[in-house]
Amino acid sequence: MTNEPNDELTVAVLGPGGIGGLLAALLSRAGHRVICLAGDETAHTLRTSGIRVRSAVFGDFTAGVEADTELREPVDACLIAVKATALDAALERVPPKTLGDALVVPFLNGVEHAAALRDRYRPDTVAPATIRAESTRVAPGEIEHATPFAEIDLTGDTVPGDRLAALAQALRDAGPATRVLPDETATLWAKMTFLAPFALLTTRHGLPLGDVRTRHREELTALAAETAAVSSACGAPADPDQTLARYDAFPPQTKSSMQRDAEAGRPLELDAIGGALLRAAERHGVPVPVASRVVRELRDAELTVALGASALPVEV
Ligand SMILES: NC(=O)c1ccc[n+]([C@@H]2O[C@H](COP(=O)([O-])OP(=O)(O)OC[C@H]3O[C@@H](n4cnc5c(N)ncnc54)[C@H](OP(=O)(O)O)[C@@H]3O)[C@@H](O)[C@H]2O)c1
Repeated sequence: MTNEPNDELTVAVLGPGGIGGLLAALLSRAGHRVICLAGDETAHTLRTSGIRVRSAVFGDFTAGVEADTELREPVDACLIAVKATALDAALERVPPKTLGDALVVPFLNGVEHAAALRDRYRPDTVAPATIRAESTRVAPGEIEHATPFAEIDLTGDTVPGDRLAALAQALRDAGPATRVLPDETATLWAKMTFLAPFALLTTRHGLPLGDVRTRHREELTALAAETAAVSSACGAPADPDQTLARYDAFPPQTKSSMQRDAEAGRPLELDAIGGALLRAAERHGVPVPVASRVVRELRDAELTVALGASALPVEV
C-alpha cells in the first residue's frame, strides 16, 4: 500500500466483532471498500444488512460492507480482530498467496501474535496495533461502542514507515485517533502492563475493578509490579505505580473483557495474556509468583467449566 492519504483503500476485516465491526463500519462510511471475512451466517447477515453501529462519539449509523468466508482477491490491508482463541482457525480464511503484500494488522491483545503472523505472512507486512476502546458485538452486524473514545496505536518494526503512515491516516480520517509508534515491543507491552493485572484479577475474583483495587489491593499491586518487571526485562520499561494510578482513575464498576467472557461461558484469552506473561518471565528469569498462581487458578477454573462443574466462586 503506497497510497496517498485519503486515497480509497480496499480493506479486509477478519473477525467483524466488537473491534473489527466498528472499524469495518467506520472505514466503509469514510469511503473505503471493506470486505469482512467471517463464518457463513455472519457473512450473510453483513452482506444483506450491513453493520449497525451505536456510538456516542461516532454516532448511530449503518454502513454497507462486502462479506465473504474467505479472502479471494488482493487488498491493501487486512485487519485481524478475532479473539486469540479463534486466531488459528480464522487465519485459514486468509491464504498468504492471496494476501500478497497487503498490510496485516492484528488488533488482538497480547504480545505473541505478531511473531506467529510473521511466520505465516510476509514479515515486512505485519503491523500490530493496539486499541483503547470498549466495543461489543451484541449480535452479528450490531456493534455497541461504549467508551467516549477509540484510540489506536499502530506499529511494526519490520514495516516501511510510509505504509504505516498511510494506513494511520485512513484510520484517523475514519474516526479513531491513530498514532504510529516506533517501538513494537514497547507498544504491545504498554497495553499488556495495564491489561494483564486488570484482566486476570477481575476474572479471578469475579469482581469489578473498584472491588479488586480495594479488597485485593495487595495482590493487584504485586501483579502490577511483576508485570512491569517482565515488561522491562523484555525491553519496555514500565512504571507499576502509574498503572495503579490508572486503575484508581477508572469507574469502580469497570469490568475486563476477560471477565465478561468468563461470565458468558466463552473461552478466555488467558493464554494470550497470562500465558504469554509467564512465558516471557521464564525467558528472562523474572520471578512472578503471584502471576503464576493466578494464571494456574484461572486455568484450573477453565478446565472445571469445560468439564461441566462450577467455576471459581464469585465474590459479592
Ligand atoms: N472489544 C473490545 O472492546 C476490545 C478492546 C481492545 C482490544 N480488544 C481485543 O480485540 C480482539 C477482538 O476482540 P473483540 O471483543 O472485538 O471480539 P468479538 O467481539 O468476540 O469479535 C470476534 C469476531 O471474530 C469472529 N470470528 C470468530 N471465529 C472466527 C473465524 N474462525 N473466522 C472468522 N471470524 C471469526 C466472530 O464472528 P461472529 O460474529 O460470527 O461470532 C466475531 O465477529 C481481542 O484480542 C480483544 O482482546 C477488544
